[in-house]
Amino acid sequence: MARIQASVYTSHVPAIGAALDLGKNGEAYWQPLFAGYEFSKKWIKENPPDVVFLVYNDHATAFSLDFIPTFAIGTAAEFHVADEGWGPRPVPTVKGHPELASHIAQSVIQQDFDLTIVNKMDVDHGLTVPLSLMYGQPEAWPAPVIPFAVNVVQYPVPSGQRCLNLGKAIRKAVESFDQDLKVQIWGTGGMSHQLQGPRAGLINKEWDKAFLDQMIADPEGLAKKPHIDYVREAGSEGIELVMWLIARGAMGDLAGKSAPRVAHRFYHVPASNTAVGHLILEEQQ
Ligand code: DHB
Ligand code: FE
Repeated sequence: MARIQASVYTSHVPAIGAALDLGKNGEAYWQPLFAGYEFSKKWIKENPPDVVFLVYNDHATAFSLDFIPTFAIGTAAEFHVADEGWGPRPVPTVKGHPELASHIAQSVIQQDFDLTIVNKMDVDHGLTVPLSLMYGQPEAWPAPVIPFAVNVVQYPVPSGQRCLNLGKAIRKAVESFDQDLKVQIWGTGGMSHQLQGPRAGLINKEWDKAFLDQMIADPEGLAKKPHIDYVREAGSEGIELVMWLIARGAMGDLAGKSAPRVAHRFYHVPASNTAVGHLILEEQQ
């Protein structure tokens, strides 16, 4: 039987990818940010997943604004790195896990979530930057990845409650797969940032820190937070954080009796226009 091993949460700022790709990660601006992921790179070597189920958002890259699936699961054998205007990032092609992805699609759709099935898709910084932060710069990504794209770009976007419930359905799907696989689920994007309009540059440290606290201790309560709170308090792009609830919903015992172990917590401002937040939660065995 497959099982959820841990969940990982991280921001996905494109400039982080560029800093790594251009060898600027040792510079004074970037050093404190990358220092926060040193633990994580060690942790993932010691706790290697067989598959990463990576919840992220496409930034009108693969889907454009012509097609906007709310939830899309990548079932392909591989996913090429998208050209977002400066050529594709020089990182490995992402290998998928078509068998597990198809099983999860089957199970989650039967649990009444309408997923879009994607057999061909390029992946943008929303997916590749979290991989770089966790794995550094390997020749090949150490584990296959199932991309799971969520619409947080064009309203209406899914509610926190729907994301949490979807995570619970994904857990059931994983646990009904008949191969022994350790699966990590990653929730990515956020934290507070606004890239546009008069409030561009907005950061809200207090709100972000409270969000991290509640993500750990009270995900059911956090799922009730309305979109307007994210947008007002964490900026227009802060709504990316709703995706973290999918990963959190896939962890066992949300009531908190045996709450997941916090293996790592990190927060840093700024990276480009964004507050970077990062958590690693391990399942209590
Ligand atoms: C930035 C952050 C994002 O989440 C994104 O998708 C693009 C840019 C930024 O801070 O520059
Ligand atoms: Fe983004």
